[in-house]
Amino acid sequence: MSSNALREDFPLLNSEKTIYLDNAATSQKPSSVIEAERNFYLNQNANPLRGFYPLSLEATKAYEDARRKVASFINAKNAQEIVFTRNTTESLNLVAYSYGLSFIKPGDEIVVSILEHHSNMLPWRMVAEKTKAKLKYLFCDENGLITDETINEVITKDTKLVAIGQVSNVLGCKNPVEKVIKKVHENGGVAVIDAAQSAPHIPINVQSLDADFLAFSGHKLLGPMGIGVLYVKENILKKMPPFLTGGEMIESVTIEKVTYAEGPQKFEAGTVNAAGAVGLKAAIDYIESIGFDEISKKEDSLTKRAIDKLGALPHVHILGDKDYKNHHGIVSFTIDNVHPHDVSEILSSEGICVRAGHHCAQPLLKHLGVNSCTRASFMFYNTEEEIDAFVLSVSKIREKMGYGK
Ligand code: ALA
Repeated sequence: MSSNALREDFPLLNSEKTIYLDNAATSQKPSSVIEAERNFYLNQNANPLRGFYPLSLEATKAYEDARRKVASFINAKNAQEIVFTRNTTESLNLVAYSYGLSFIKPGDEIVVSILEHHSNMLPWRMVAEKTKAKLKYLFCDENGLITDETINEVITKDTKLVAIGQVSNVLGCKNPVEKVIKKVHENGGVAVIDAAQSAPHIPINVQSLDADFLAFSGHKLLGPMGIGVLYVKENILKKMPPFLTGGEMIESVTIEKVTYAEGPQKFEAGTVNAAGAVGLKAAIDYIESIGFDEISKKEDSLTKRAIDKLGALPHVHILGDKDYKNHHGIVSFTIDNVHPHDVSEILSSEGICVRAGHHCAQPLLKHLGVNSCTRASFMFYNTEEEIDAFVLSVSKIREKMGYGK
């Protein structure tokens, strides 16, 4: 795969003179995604799921086609297991407010990993507080590894729910979600998987994972902002109460009684983001046209190059595993005596976009003994030249800050 040919598909990468290495925050968008959204508004725009006239039926079809595409992308058994939301955060909050507040009882245990982004930690802290459940953590070692021993010790017969990300947004490491899911199921609980950082990089199969819930955002996988996905196993979705109430999520309403819609519509109150869903379908089509084998090959090679070169610089410390295979396009690092905000500002003055700070994972950073770090994150459309320019700039930062080489 030639990144240079692919870059032609990404208008912003061609028009802006920047080196975009903040892909874990949001990815760039190919023309096909931008066109798909534009086409929806130009040619299909009507409120889906409501009208019986042709335009509305067409909008409904476009929206439901997108649902079917997402279902096949993650190998869900049934498109009715796919709920569209705004983003991963909303998906996880939906599970917390609907499932969590209904089915977690005082004394139950909720387990979250210490590697979680705040959006897969704070909803569970809220549920634990409101239901008087006990919140427990799966801690990792300095490489981000959660051991079998930790899993067997922390997940018990009282564990009713485990929330864990498939790939850490700070370290890029893959968590042992398969083992966690198996263990929580043996104990009669459910598993909530945050796939925000994995869905753009590795194939997901919710049936072989046996995940009960799985969430991701469109905007990190080449799709538009404002469209997210929540997969819920059908038998669980059926028993969950709605999160938001209002239009289009009901079967019938009388003064005496409300009957809610079956399926994902129960969780899609109000006018939906059909254009976003259509854009997400185009993004998945684009990813599938390249294929995850090619994507991984390219991203692994970029990540290896960055780790090898950054790791060889004096005063630079890479967080997490030294093996590039456990980084999934993410390399976070610190530089002795230079604050990450200064690092990102200096890189920014040279046209290099990275993220610096706590990355909405403060408990993980504290556990790793750092306050903040700089994160470079790659996508298959990045190039070797970009990695080299980034490493060269990093190599000069201490000198620019007044330290010796
Ligand atoms: N959750 C996104 C990140 O890790 C925004 O940068």
